[in-house]
Amino acid sequence: MPLKSIILIGAGNVAHHLGPQFQKSGLEILQVFSRKITKARRLAKTLKSEAINDLSKLSSSADLYVLAVHDGAIPLVAQQLPKEVREKKLVVHTSGATPSTVFKSICKRYGIFYPLQTFSIKRKVDFSSIPICTHANRKSDRQALQVLGQQLSNSSFEINDAQRAILHVAAVFVNNFSNHLFSIGAELCEKEQIPFQLLLPLILETATKVQKHPPAKMQTGPALRGDLTTLNKHLDYLQRYPEYEKLYRQLSKNINPKLPL
Ligand SMILES: NC(=O)c1ccc[n+]([C@@H]2O[C@H](COP(=O)([O-])OP(=O)(O)OC[C@H]3O[C@@H](n4cnc5c(N)ncnc54)[C@H](OP(=O)(O)O)[C@@H]3O)[C@@H](O)[C@H]2O)c1
Repeated sequence: MPLKSIILIGAGNVAHHLGPQFQKSGLEILQVFSRKITKARRLAKTLKSEAINDLSKLSSSADLYVLAVHDGAIPLVAQQLPKEVREKKLVVHTSGATPSTVFKSICKRYGIFYPLQTFSIKRKVDFSSIPICTHANRKSDRQALQVLGQQLSNSSFEINDAQRAILHVAAVFVNNFSNHLFSIGAELCEKEQIPFQLLLPLILETATKVQKHPPAKMQTGPALRGDLTTLNKHLDYLQRYPEYEKLYRQLSKNINPKLPL
C-alpha cells in the first residue's frame, strides 16, 4: 500500500526540507507538530496543513508519522503518540545515529527515513540526488518506505541499523570533520588578513575529484610526499596554536605513518 498522508512531528531543519518534498511528491501533510506553535504554524502554512503543539491533538488518520526531532527526544515523543498510532500506524524517525529499535517497545510498525545530507532551514538543496536510507521492522513497510524514498530522490537505499550506524560515523568524518578543518583554515586566513575565498576553488576541486576517484588515491600534500622541510615549517608556525599543531601532526601521521613526527 503506497503511503499517501503524513504527519510531521518536529519543525526544525529536516522537517522544513522533507515537508515540501513530500508535498511535491503528491503526499498530503495532515499536521505539523512543534512544541512551539509559532514554529509549527510557519511550516504548516507552506504545506497547507494544520499546526499543533499538543500531541494529544494528533490525528490517527495518517499513513506515516515522521519524527524529525532531536535524537534524544525520539523515544519520549514516540511514547506520547496516541495508542491507535502506536498500535496500527507506521512511525519513523529521520536520524542517522539512532537505531530503529528505539521504537521497539513503543510502536508495532516502525522504521527509518534518513536523508543523508546536511540540512539548514535557509539552505536550498537538490533533493533528487540525496540518498534516502530507509528501514522498517516489517517487510511491507520496508517496501512502502523504499517507494516513498524513490518518489523523493533518485537514490533510495534499504540500510539496516548496523550499516546506518557505520554510515553515520563515515558521514561525521566526511562532513563534520572536513567542515571543521575548513573553519580552521578560515581562522588562519582571517588572522593574517588573507581572503578565505582564495581557498574555495581548492575545496570544490577536492570534493569534485572524489566523485570519480577513490579519495585515498587523490591524496596530495607534504605529508604524503614525506616533505619534512615543509611539514616542520608548518609545525613551527602552528606553535602559536597548540591545538591545531597537535591536529596537524596527527592528521599528517595518519596520512603517512612513516613520518618521523
Ligand atoms: N540537520 C541535519 O543536517 C540532519 C540530517 C539528517 C538527519 N538529521 C536528523 O533529523 C532529526 C532532526 O534534526 P534537525 O536538524 O531537524 O533538528 P532541529 O532543527 O534541531 O529540530 C529539532 C526538532 O526537534 C524538536 N524537539 C527537540 N526536543 C523535543 C522534545 N523533547 N519533544 C518534542 N520535540 C522536540 C524541536 O522542537 P521545538 O520546535 O518544539 O523546539 C525541533 O522541532 C535528528 O534526529 C537529526 O539527527 C538531521
